[in-house]
Amino acid sequence: MSKITAAITAVGSYVPDFVMTNKILETLVDTNDEWITTRTGIKERRILKGEGLGTSYLAIKAAEQLLSKRKLDPKEIDMVIVATATPDMMVAATAAYVASEIGAENAFAYDLQAACSSFLYGMSTAASYIQSGRYKKVLLIGADKMSSIIDYTDRTTCIIFGDGAGAVLFEPDTEGLGLQDEYLRSDGIGRNFLKMDAGGSLLPASEETVKNRQHFIYQDGKSVFKFAVTNMANAAAKIMERNNLTHEDVNWLVPHQANKRIIDATSNRMGVEDSKVMMNIQKYGNTTSATLPLLLSDYENQLKKGDNLVFAAFGGGFTWGSIYLKWAYNS
Ligand code: UT7
Repeated sequence: MSKITAAITAVGSYVPDFVMTNKILETLVDTNDEWITTRTGIKERRILKGEGLGTSYLAIKAAEQLLSKRKLDPKEIDMVIVATATPDMMVAATAAYVASEIGAENAFAYDLQAACSSFLYGMSTAASYIQSGRYKKVLLIGADKMSSIIDYTDRTTCIIFGDGAGAVLFEPDTEGLGLQDEYLRSDGIGRNFLKMDAGGSLLPASEETVKNRQHFIYQDGKSVFKFAVTNMANAAAKIMERNNLTHEDVNWLVPHQANKRIIDATSNRMGVEDSKVMMNIQKYGNTTSATLPLLLSDYENQLKKGDNLVFAAFGGGFTWGSIYLKWAYNS
């Protein structure tokens, strides 16, 4: 019997309608379009408006698009993983609600949190369940409503993040396609540089924490930038080296969309030309767990069966890594 690999066999995505442009941000904080564009590459991002809509709303929409594109009966899904840093609630997995809402009544579901590396780590988790032969259809969704934890008076963070969701289906493959190798790392020193202080077990919510604006994301951008540039590029280079991939063998770099300058540093280190670098940061900003599947969704039509994709991400924690995956279908 040939070895079972875990392939991505379908993709779906969703971004909310409201477009928050750099011009709008200029009216909220002391910033300007030129600074944001040259420092980050971001022109606009999407924001989920409306009372009572959380990350599950985004995740459900992305999953439903996947199901309808693929004409898949949700009852066939074995498990649902929602990769997210902004779950609907601290307790009660968002994934369980999402699975029920999309009709995946035979699935079990849970959330996975590793900040901006949530989806990358989720790929490893989803693929392992498939490779082991334990499950046949694993739905991995990356979704974040970052606007729910952003301080729109803090110009250092509010210009970066946006809301969105993407979903992929992992299934067994016997042609050797799908996930080939992974290099995943973490370093707890990072939690001082990118964090949301309050609302967890360390510092539960109180009047004081609200007054001190500790339920918003804090980032020491410069320090995170330094770690991100080095580690994302190193991880991608390591995956190439370990799998004897030259820049010519790599068809696509699928990099986390945090800052165009970090993406450029990674592609330069790999020697991969710009035309092979997936990029949509200009439209969506940093959607945390959703960046990688949103890229797959935007570029799906250009992907060919057998293409070599190198994923790379870096996020809070710190968490980071790279995954080498062979694309499994033509659109
Ligand atoms: O996805 C998870 C991981 N996160 C990341 O990878 C993000 C990594 N960090 C970054 O992308 C960048 O550090 C930022 C985009 C957050 C900031 O860019 P930077 O080039 O590192 O800027 P900086 O923090 O060094 O600030 C440079 C200057 C400062 O002014 P002075 O001290 O030189 O006078 C800031 O006060 O830019 C100022 N500044 C701004 N000016 C206009 C900071 N934010 C803004 C702003 N608009 N929004």
